[in-house]
Amino acid sequence: MTTVTGRPDGDSLLPDAERLAADLADLSTFSESGEPGWTRQIFSDPYRASRGWVADRMRAAGLETHVDPAGNVVGRLPGRDRSKPVLMTGSHTDTVHGGGRFDGIVGVLSAIEVARRLRETGATLESDLVVVDFLGEEANTFGISCVGSRAVAGLLTPEHLDRVDDSGRRLGDVMTAFGLDPQGALDQAWAPGSVHGYVELHVEQGPLLERSGHRIGVVTAIAGIERLLVQFTGRADHAGTMPMTGRHDALVAAAQAVLTVEREGCGAPVHGVSTTGRIESSPGALNVVPDKARIWAELRSIDAPWLSGAKRRVVEQIAADAEARGVSTLIEWLNDQDPVACARSMQDRIGAAADSLGYAWEAVPSGAGHDAAHLAHLGPMGMIFLPSVGGRSHVPEELSEPADIAAGAHVLAHTLVRLDRDTA
Ligand code: GLV
Ligand code: MN
Ligand code: MN
Repeated sequence: MTTVTGRPDGDSLLPDAERLAADLADLSTFSESGEPGWTRQIFSDPYRASRGWVADRMRAAGLETHVDPAGNVVGRLPGRDRSKPVLMTGSHTDTVHGGGRFDGIVGVLSAIEVARRLRETGATLESDLVVVDFLGEEANTFGISCVGSRAVAGLLTPEHLDRVDDSGRRLGDVMTAFGLDPQGALDQAWAPGSVHGYVELHVEQGPLLERSGHRIGVVTAIAGIERLLVQFTGRADHAGTMPMTGRHDALVAAAQAVLTVEREGCGAPVHGVSTTGRIESSPGALNVVPDKARIWAELRSIDAPWLSGAKRRVVEQIAADAEARGVSTLIEWLNDQDPVACARSMQDRIGAAADSLGYAWEAVPSGAGHDAAHLAHLGPMGMIFLPSVGGRSHVPEELSEPADIAAGAHVLAHTLVRLDRDTA
């Protein structure tokens, strides 16, 4: 049995929904001026300032707080036996360009609220509770997501630090300029076994919970992400004089590839999506047939065999269609992450916590990437979803209702207490 003084029960850990909503509103004031939505991207000044605010909230909640070499803000609530593997929770507070106020942020602020409620109720967990605001979860201009959680899990590599963005800057140098210690980030991995369990609360970012009317999602697995860059090379010609049959139009080949990418996702039998997020062509004149084009696309699925089959089919089709137009292709894949299953034991705990609190739940996959996927390398990992209004996310309209956020935080608290009992 866990040793808690004033042992937490369902009602005592009920989050203060108003306080949580006020924290969400406060954090949303840190955003990049002149940018759409609630933009707060990695390495921006508002992001730097907001991390000071997060650290202050952690300290005020009684957490021993520091910033690690990778820039993660880490707060620790002492348990009764500090030698035990820790309970860990958290998420991220950076946003995509033009993003919203809830993605990631709900997980960090709810974790701080759970720590506050534990302290206010006089409860002491058996193990330390570690709350982390991971650096830069969203894919950045270097093509890397989850910088901080990769570092904690020992998955950040020298190759990551050597990547350069479009303006020729190296990730490691940009981290240094932001006041971080990239070499330290490579060396700081937590030991496997040092984390008894990691559980992350997150907005669903899709429509499943809203459609079914369930308040809680128990995540079964986090999708793998495969990113694709295709460069098409055709031939520039006069757009008024070259007959349609004599052209080698790189942009039309790219447009056809966009449809190939879409068709693949539409045909996924279990779970799979495919998106072309960007297209470029040159010379970009109305009176010249484009000789060059590029597309950036991604495939996502929790189903690894489907992902590898889809990669092969997409490449074969794009190359064959382009060749038929006399357009050559150069194709590169970048693996962002493989699919990761949530631990069965964590899914069971989250479901049991939701049941005991009377919240209806269902099992759902995650099509979005998460810090949790990397934390799974350190110990059992689980994720709790709460509904997103209209299933919208990565847009300024992103919204989750305060009552749903409070319910999610309540389930997070209970799951952590259940996990703690298992360490005693
Ligand atoms: C992160 O939000 C991602 O799934 O791209
Ligand atoms: Mn997120
Ligand atoms: Mn996101």
